[in-house]
This record gives sequence, C-alpha cells and structure tokens, in this order.
Amino acid sequence: MKVVKTAAELAGGDGGRRGVVMTMGALHAGHLELVRAAARDCDEVVVTIFVNPLQFDDPTDLDRYPRNLDADVALLEPLGVTAVFAPTVAEVYPAGTPEVTVASGRIGDVFEGEFRPGHFDGVLTVVLKLLNLTRADAAYFGEKDAQQLIAVRRLVADLNVPVEIVGVPTVRDGDGLALSSRNVFLSTHDREHALALPRALAAAAALVAESRPVDEAIATGRAVLAQEPGLEVDYLDVLDSSDGEVVIAGAVRVGAVRLIDNVRASKR
Ligand code: PAJ
Repeated sequence: MKVVKTAAELAGGDGGRRGVVMTMGALHAGHLELVRAAARDCDEVVVTIFVNPLQFDDPTDLDRYPRNLDADVALLEPLGVTAVFAPTVAEVYPAGTPEVTVASGRIGDVFEGEFRPGHFDGVLTVVLKLLNLTRADAAYFGEKDAQQLIAVRRLVADLNVPVEIVGVPTVRDGDGLALSSRNVFLSTHDREHALALPRALAAAAALVAESRPVDEAIATGRAVLAQEPGLEVDYLDVLDSSDGEVVIAGAVRVGAVRLIDNVRASKR
C-alpha cells in the first residue's frame, strides 16, 4: 500500500477495475466497510483522505474536524488497499477556490442543504475532482449520508460521468448510534441524548413496515425526538421514496455536535 500526496504519484494502474473510497479521514468501522466492499469487487482500491474546505459552511467545524493520517493509514494497511491519496488543499485547489464548481441543484437546497448552505455544491465539486484525479471505475459511498449518495448519483447521471456508484449500508455501534467521525465529541451524557435519533427513526420505520400511513410514522418519530430534552431537532422527514421503499432522514444537535442519520423502510 502506497501513501501519496500528489495525483501524479497515483498514475499507473494495471488496467483492472479501480475502486475509490472517498473520505475525510478520522476513519472508523463505517469507512472500513466501504473499503471492504471496494476490495471485494475491484482489482485496485484507492482511498482518498481529504478534509474538503469547500463543503464546510462553518469554519469552526472545519478547524476542529479530527485529523490523524498515521492512524488512518494503519487501519487501511490490512484491507488490501492499493493506494492512499492524502493530498494537501493546494494539491486539490492549486488556484484557491475554483471558479467553476458543480451546482447541486434542488437536492442541495433541502434537508442538509437548508441547514448547510453550499455544502452539497462543495461535496459534488470535490467528488468530481477526486473522480477525475483517481480515474476510478467505481466509487463507494455510505448510505449513512443518504442525501449525499442521492446527490452523487444525480451528478453522475446528469453530467454523464463514466463511473459506477455503489451504496453501502450504514454501520452502527452496538447501542444503535450510526458511526460518525463527529461521535468523538459526544460526552457519555450527550451520547444518551443522541440515541433518541436512531430510536426515532427505527420507530418511524417500524410503522412504515406495518403499512401505516407515512405521515403517522413521521409524527411518531418526531414525538420520540420531542421527548428527549437534550436535543435540538433540525428535521425528521421523508427524504426519498420509490418502489415501495421510503428513506426517512433526521438531523439533531446535541450541544455543539450535529448528527445525521436515516433508515430505509419497505412498505409491505
Ligand atoms: P466522510 O464523512 O469521511 O465519509 C466518507 C464516506 O464514508 C461517505 O461515503 C460516508 O457516507 C461513509 N460513511 C460514514 N459513516 C458511515 C457509517 N456509519 N456507515 C457506512 N458508511 C459511512 O462523506 C464525506 O466524508 C465527504 O463528504 C466526501 C464524500 C469524502 C467528500 O468530501
């Protein structure tokens, strides 16, 4: 496994299928599941580690985002990764903030986009750049960030980007909390409050699975969150629905930590 800082060093590849897993580092078992999925069906796996300034609407969040390249590299070593691409900001944005960027459109204005203006434009811009820099045939994204996955699929469809997008199910801790690099900021007490989010989503999903009206499921999920005093709720609602499957997404703030999560529920 090589660790490189420039795209030039990534060049090569033996012509087999190259998979990319894009991350912002501070790797946990959720990221590693994406890497395992890529290693299963690709000849080469490139993991990118880059904290993308363009997608942070809050400078404090960017400053304190956890960074630990050595620990990340050690976690990736046993997983059959070909290369870790950990560029500097200057490598990715040599001319500073790019003049031409990807506009995420309607999906970028709702849910997360409403609370983080410009976030999905920044995400899609770096995703397209990293696809071009790594020249991957397939890219793996977590269902944990359901709206991001939808936006990336739109990017690829709308701009005819020649890459296959693969979604990977959310990895959770034993208590139900979805793994996130931001979980390290939660005190034991905060974590108790945070658990209301997966609980609320599970309650809503259970009702959908019982063929109850989706409105009732959402109201029930919101009621679970409302009962939790330590939480500020940004939203809990239907993010997407197709073919009898509903994706219910929620976002809450516990003190200074903002958490997102979602569940898929199939109507019977
Ligand atoms: P990051 O938050 O580091 O996440 C990298 C990838 O890991 C994303 O596809 C995310 O959905 C996935 N992931 C995170 N937690 C997960 C979990 N608990 N289970 C399964 N997958 C999980 O998402 C980003 O970085 C950035 O926006 C990025 C795509 C790298 C662009 O900068």
